[in-house]
Amino acid sequence: MAFKPLAALVALLSVSIAHGAITRRVTCPDGVNTVANAACCPLFAVRDDIQESLFDGGKCGEEVHESLRLTFHDAIGFSPSLTAQGKFGGGGADGSIAIFESIETGYHANLGIDEIINEQATFILKHNMTAGDFIQFAGAVGVSNCPGAPQLEFLLGRPAATAPAPDKTVPEPFDTVDSILARFGDAGFSPQEVIALLASHSVAAADHVDPAIPGTPFDSTPSDFDPQIFIEVQLRGTLFPGTGGNQGEVESPYPGEIRLQSDHNLARDSRTACFWQSLANNQQQMQAQFKAAMAKLAVLGQDVSQMVDCSDVIPVPLPPATTPHIPAGLSQNNIEQACATAAFPTLPIDVGPQTSIPPVPGS
Ligand code: HEM
Repeated sequence: MAFKPLAALVALLSVSIAHGAITRRVTCPDGVNTVANAACCPLFAVRDDIQESLFDGGKCGEEVHESLRLTFHDAIGFSPSLTAQGKFGGGGADGSIAIFESIETGYHANLGIDEIINEQATFILKHNMTAGDFIQFAGAVGVSNCPGAPQLEFLLGRPAATAPAPDKTVPEPFDTVDSILARFGDAGFSPQEVIALLASHSVAAADHVDPAIPGTPFDSTPSDFDPQIFIEVQLRGTLFPGTGGNQGEVESPYPGEIRLQSDHNLARDSRTACFWQSLANNQQQMQAQFKAAMAKLAVLGQDVSQMVDCSDVIPVPLPPATTPHIPAGLSQNNIEQACATAAFPTLPIDVGPQTSIPPVPGS
C-alpha cells in the first residue's frame, strides 16, 4: 500500500525556523514540496491530478459540490446507539459508501451520489489509496477551490471498510429538527456543529429534490464559500423554482434558488436559530466553525492515533470574493427573525432587478 503512514520514503530532512521554534520539515522526493511527515509526499501527485482532471482545473463546480456531499454521506454512517444495541453501527469515514456502493447507493438519502462515486473510482484505483482516505482528501482539496473556504484538515490512514453502513444514518431534508439533531447527536455533534456543517450548503445545488430542474443552487453564490446561505435561507420563502410539491422542499425567496425544508426549519428552531444567525454576517466564524466540525466529521469511527496529519498538502483557498448582502429585489423586511435574543444583522442590499439565479452547470 503506497500510503501506509509508516511507509519508508526516500526524503531529505531540512530544518527551518518558524515562529521562533525549530521545526523539522521533509523535502519530498520531487525536490519541490515540503511537508511535516514524509508519508504525505505521494499526496501531492494525487492532489495535482484531481485538481486537473476531476475538478476541471481547480474550479469550485459540480464535482467539488458532489465530493463535499460525499464526505458527509460516507462519514455519517456511524451510529454508537446502534452499536450499543448490539447491531453494526457503521464504520464512519471508512469509504464504505464506495466499497459497498451497490448497497449504500440504494438508500433513499443517497440518491444521486453514485455519480461522484463512479467518477472518483478511477482516481482511487490509479493512486492506490483507501476509499475512505480518498473521499475525505478529495473533499478537502475540492473545497479549497471555493473562495472564502477554510483550509480543511486532512488526516491520512483510514483502513479499508469491511461492511456497509446501515440505512437511515444520513438525514433527509423532510426529517424533523428533532430527528436531525438526534441523528447528529448520536454521531457526536452538537446542534451548533450541525449548523457549522451546513455551511457546506453554501457551495451546493440539488439535482434530485426537484428532478425537473437539476443543478438548482441553495444560495445565489454556489461557487463561493460565503455566508449567503445563512442569509438567504432566513428570507421569507414565496416561490418554488420549479414545480413545487416535492418532498423535502419549501418555498424559496428567489427564482432559480431551491430551499430544503431541513435548512429552513433549522434556521428557525429555537435551539439553532441564534447560532445560524451569528454566521450570517461573519465569514471568519463560518470558516472556523466549519473547519472544526469538518475535522471531526472526517475521522468519525477512525483511530486518530494511527493517522498522519497531511493537512499541509491541502491548498490554501482564495480569500472570499463576496461580502454578506441581500441579493437585489428583497430587503431586510423580508428577513424572518427567528433568534429571540438578538436582531438579525443589518446587511447591504444589492440594487437592480429581482435576482434570478442560474443553475450550476453540469460538467
Ligand atoms: C440536515 C442535514 C442535511 C440534509 C437533510 C441534507 C440534504 C441535502 C439534499 C437533499 C441535497 C440535494 C441532493 C440532490 O438533490 O442532488 C444536498 C446537497 C448537498 N449537501 Fe447536504 N444535507 C445535510 C447536511 C450536509 C452536510 C453536513 C454536508 C457536508 C458537510 C452537506 C453537503 C452537501 C453538498 C455539498 C450538497 C450539494 C451537492 C451538489 O451540488 O451536487 N450536506 N443536501
